[in-house]
Amino acid sequence: MKILVVGGGGREHAMAWRASQDPGVERVYGVPGNAGMAADIGCVPGNILDPKEIAALAEYLGADCTVVGPEAPLVAGIVDEFDSRGLGIVGPTRAAAQLEGSKAFAKDFLLECGLPTAESALLDDVGAVDDAVGQFGYPVALKADGLAAGKGVIIVEDEAQARSTAREMLAGNVVGEAGRRVLVEQFLTGEEVSFMVLSDGKAFCALPATQDHKRALEGDRGPNTGGMGAYCDDSIISGAMRDRIVDTIVEPALAGMRRRGTPFKGFLYCGLMLTEDGPQVLEFNVRLGDPETQPLLYRLEGGFAELLASAARGALDPSLVRASASPTACVVMASEGYPSSYPKGRPITGLAAAEQLGAKVFHAGTALAGGTPATSGGRVLGVTARGESLEAALSLTYRAVGAIHFEGAQYRRDIGRRGLERVAARS
Ligand code: AMP
Ligand code: GLY
Repeated sequence: MKILVVGGGGREHAMAWRASQDPGVERVYGVPGNAGMAADIGCVPGNILDPKEIAALAEYLGADCTVVGPEAPLVAGIVDEFDSRGLGIVGPTRAAAQLEGSKAFAKDFLLECGLPTAESALLDDVGAVDDAVGQFGYPVALKADGLAAGKGVIIVEDEAQARSTAREMLAGNVVGEAGRRVLVEQFLTGEEVSFMVLSDGKAFCALPATQDHKRALEGDRGPNTGGMGAYCDDSIISGAMRDRIVDTIVEPALAGMRRRGTPFKGFLYCGLMLTEDGPQVLEFNVRLGDPETQPLLYRLEGGFAELLASAARGALDPSLVRASASPTACVVMASEGYPSSYPKGRPITGLAAAEQLGAKVFHAGTALAGGTPATSGGRVLGVTARGESLEAALSLTYRAVGAIHFEGAQYRRDIGRRGLERVAARS
């Protein structure tokens, strides 16, 4: 079997590497990939926002199954193009990808299906700002309607800040066109969980829950980022909570998409807040999470490539994979300045030493400079390891992080802290 992975971040490196471990997989290609993918599996250049170009590439490579990492190619209609050519692909159509492409669409859908979610109001006009912003109290979440690369949600603390931020977003000054409509949303408190499932449009397979760390700084302070680290451990949710999430969120959401005539095929990411009133949907993504995928796939045993192929064929076989007993963790090493502007081209050393310790280093923003890896993005590496306990997994991860160097590297030292507290509280 030949697999084509679309994208070039840490999530795509983890997917490509994991698929390449399966027997029966002849080749895995990444487009465009990164330095780590080039070393592990092989990369080909291509514009992933051009569905026709990527479909032609899949035909040329003879890929049996293509899997799409980021949301933008899905929203651009890559799956529709593959479907029209009869090519195997894992991901939602452009219509189904609106669950992530538009917060207003997602909120309408959540309400239509009666799914638990925060109250909200949609703003599409500066004149409506004053009436809309105050109705949910403070703090309140302001969310740009369109895709904004993780920068579209701003939590504001008071009325003056709410008014000025909403106006700036609507004027296109914060996240450009994505902010021309803004969802004002009641602030929810609780613990956040990333709950991902794979569906073939009919059946689905729930993957182990993971927890991300969105804020840049330790103690969940500082600006929101794409995610600074994640872990995958059975302590994150109980079996009863898992059943509740499946019953009250996943199944009704997938049924709702089928009812609308846009069945959801691919990975559905439910960003949840576990509130006192139960799990509530903060957001849907139409893809795997990054960095959640790194510890998730590092923990998954069985035939991941076969699982993808079964979903692409519309005959999903959830029995192909299972979670290993060992918890896993991933710490993101980011460039100095991330999530604001950051330098590029800084040489990275210690990658082999980190892997010799027993960790796996997934690359994100890396490129080869004169044959050696150098930084090329905000999030640079996702250092990932497993252990007999969450503590052991984290300890190995941080030892491996310590072996790697690039100038200005920043990372959080408290990844998995909530998990460790939960484990300690239980024993
Ligand atoms: P989203 O892109 O919708 O997941 O939002 C990014 C982050 O903003 C989430 O991971 C939460 O940490 C935070 N957030 C979003 N919506 C809310 C909300 N209604 N209440 C509290 N925090 C929120
Ligand atoms: N780590 C959050 C996301 O992938 O959206």
